Amino acid sequence: MTILGIETSCDDTGIAVIEATPTKVGVKFDILSNVVSSQIKTHAPFGGVVPNLAAREHLKNIEPCLKTALKEADKKMSEIDLIAVTNGPGLIPSLLIGVNFAKALAYRYKKPIIGINHIEAHIAAALILSGRGISNSKFLISKQGPKYKIQNLFPAIALVVSGGHTQLVLVKKIGSPPHQNFGGGDTYKIIGETRDDAAGECFDKVAKLLNLGYPGGPAISRQAEKWKSEFLISKSETNPKTKFQLPRPMVNHKNYDFSFSGLKTAVLYLFTAQNSKLRTQDFIQEMCFETQQAIIDVLVSKTINAAKEYRAKTVILAGGVAANKELREQLAAAVKKIPHSLFLIPDFKLCTDNGAMIAIAAYFNQKNIKPINWKIIKADANLRIG
Ligand code: KG4
Ligand code: ZN
Repeated sequence: MTILGIETSCDDTGIAVIEATPTKVGVKFDILSNVVSSQIKTHAPFGGVVPNLAAREHLKNIEPCLKTALKEADKKMSEIDLIAVTNGPGLIPSLLIGVNFAKALAYRYKKPIIGINHIEAHIAAALILSGRGISNSKFLISKQGPKYKIQNLFPAIALVVSGGHTQLVLVKKIGSPPHQNFGGGDTYKIIGETRDDAAGECFDKVAKLLNLGYPGGPAISRQAEKWKSEFLISKSETNPKTKFQLPRPMVNHKNYDFSFSGLKTAVLYLFTAQNSKLRTQDFIQEMCFETQQAIIDVLVSKTINAAKEYRAKTVILAGGVAANKELREQLAAAVKKIPHSLFLIPDFKLCTDNGAMIAIAAYFNQKNIKPINWKIIKADANLRIG
């Protein structure tokens, strides 16, 4: 089946066309197009996303994105079997643009439409495994062995880390072929989440403080990488050691909640306490390394504890912050130490917001599609996954 995925929950306008083909061992996904129009330039001067500006940009970009996505996929609207759109959680002005656009398409072309939870879509993006990483053919279950069989993946613990969310989600099950009963309340349970800032938000706010621009995650990670490699070369050591230590908030609490706002404040205090002449490039890079490591230490520790407690067969890392190389590597290394556990992360370009992940999640939610249902789809800024 051919699915059109539409994503406008934050500051990326994403439209994708995917082809989902059930196979004997699972389902094969072909991402025919995955167009993302970024609004970085619009929001960069403000150091974060301005909701009304985001909505204005979505409105401007959504139709050109659709045209490009259909053209790249070599499909017409008449060939689309299902329209999938993010209906929450997210910024309401942004969500409304995508939802109303999708509803108009569904009405005009008489197509079924489904509202998709953005968090679920981030998780679903991790379930497709690259063939050999070069083709755009993806398989939910590949020929890589029985451990990848869908029945063997659950229960799973998913760490969803983005600019707006930090949640640990227990994914309890997925249906047997044709895998259409993934999703819904009895599939997920949020076992922990941030009490204040999201991990991505912490990256963004610290980057703003250090004048590194927006989005902060990639900027901090680049600076941290520079400091790490310089340190390892100049000191001939194997483990980088920073001169100052930031807190690891809530790392020893016996729950799966997070708190990142204090970390940003700690960076602010260290930064302002430093004589302005001594705020050298090296100091900024070291600060970035320590900030990134503090965030990673908390995320890895809580995720591993959850994986052990819930006897997870799979650990999933998803969301925009999953693009962070150090987090990917350090969580992968920690999961490796849990016997028989599998670690899944989406391809880099499927980590940050995009339409393909919405379309993939839609495939697993077909049981929720109702005939001629465009009227009942509503945007919900606070939509919960479980
Ligand atoms: O999932 P996403 O695209 O949008 C939301 O749903 O929020 O995530 C965006 C977030 C931003 O906070 C950005 O700084 C962060 O993901 N991010 C990263 C990296 N790439 C993007 N954080 C750390 N390291 C990265 N390489
Ligand atoms: Zn996201």
